[in-house]
Amino acid sequence: MKLARRMDSFEESATMEVAGRITALNAKGKDIISFAAGEPDFDVPEPAKEAAIKAIREGKNKYAPVAGNDQIKTAIVEFTSRQLGVDYAKSQCIVSMGAKHSLYNISQVLFDEWDEVIIFSPYWVTYPSQVLLAGAKPVFVNCRPENGFNPDMDELKSKITSATKAIILNSPCNPTGAVYSNETIRKIADIAVNDDIYLISDEIYDAIVYDGHKHLSPVQLGADVKDRTILVNGMSKSFSMTGWRLGHALGPEPIIKAMVKLQSQSTSNPVTPLMLAAAEALKDTAFFATRASEFKKRRDIIVGALNSMDGISCVVPKGAFYAFPNFNGWLGKKFDGEVIRDSAQLANVLIDHAGVGPVPGVAFGAEGYLRFSYAMATERIEEGMRRLKAFGERLA
Ligand SMILES: Cc1ncc(COP(=O)(O)O)c(C=O)c1O
Repeated sequence: MKLARRMDSFEESATMEVAGRITALNAKGKDIISFAAGEPDFDVPEPAKEAAIKAIREGKNKYAPVAGNDQIKTAIVEFTSRQLGVDYAKSQCIVSMGAKHSLYNISQVLFDEWDEVIIFSPYWVTYPSQVLLAGAKPVFVNCRPENGFNPDMDELKSKITSATKAIILNSPCNPTGAVYSNETIRKIADIAVNDDIYLISDEIYDAIVYDGHKHLSPVQLGADVKDRTILVNGMSKSFSMTGWRLGHALGPEPIIKAMVKLQSQSTSNPVTPLMLAAAEALKDTAFFATRASEFKKRRDIIVGALNSMDGISCVVPKGAFYAFPNFNGWLGKKFDGEVIRDSAQLANVLIDHAGVGPVPGVAFGAEGYLRFSYAMATERIEEGMRRLKAFGERLA
């Protein structure tokens, strides 16, 4: 079959692929603890459930405006004002089918062929593929473990060219769990302002930060930064509403209008009753603090366990719910007589022989690493770490 050439320009999402494979193996009777999916185990907030059922029963099941109905847009701008102290007009807001869809729309309306887009590496798997799908060129800037996975500013400056159109920012970060320092965010914002570059700020993990760190959005740094930033957020992580597929973007009106135009010819509005329900959920964020402290407990368990094993080192994540340990000490060793050469092979062997399912670091641009999502009950994390340790002891 001859598919469009653009289908060869990007990769399938590795996290979705690995998570799907583990689910399928477990359905066949295997017992694999999946550390793959970036999905909180908490339930959807009760007000959202009630409001969804009510909306469906009351017949609120018809098409809505392409950019989302007034209720959810009102709730989003109020939520953003409460969380960040930054105000947006509803005309600066578009609701899409998840933050991934918001980011896709942004890349399609902003990037031309030959545009360069800065992506901090290790990166969320989707950014390079979306940039490539738009015909643009991803340009990677390293974030090193010794800097808490903050971007290297000298490298960033050296990679800016006249073709640089945007910088994609993701703090708290998937996969490293880094929360960029205020100084880092200020410096990135200064570069964007001085060199006339857009900032795409993916803040989907904004409510999951630890150890007294506070989430800082570039849009809080002043009008000149806000005017060139597209802020992306959504219901999946902080509200545990992954399956509802609701994300949003806030930004300069011409960009939002272009996204509405694109959405009008692709998906139209997100699901009407679910938007009405999410509008209710957005009003009550009192549970954020208790969830963050539960995630912190899990973080401490998994990072403590990983760092206690020979050959593994893990930077302590400051936010999100991923541990991103370095496994270079295990690569080159043999399991059952076979040399484990890279992160993809290691992840496969762990799935098949240890009953533990992480995602290989190569998918995030970081060979030698594995990503563990710890959005699960502590007993499961502990059991997974016991299995990992037992496997490590069998390496020769
Ligand atoms: C950094 C980052 N951005 C965006 C998303 C997408 O979220 P959504 O479920 O809203 O599409 C994810 C999901 O894993 C993510 O990790």
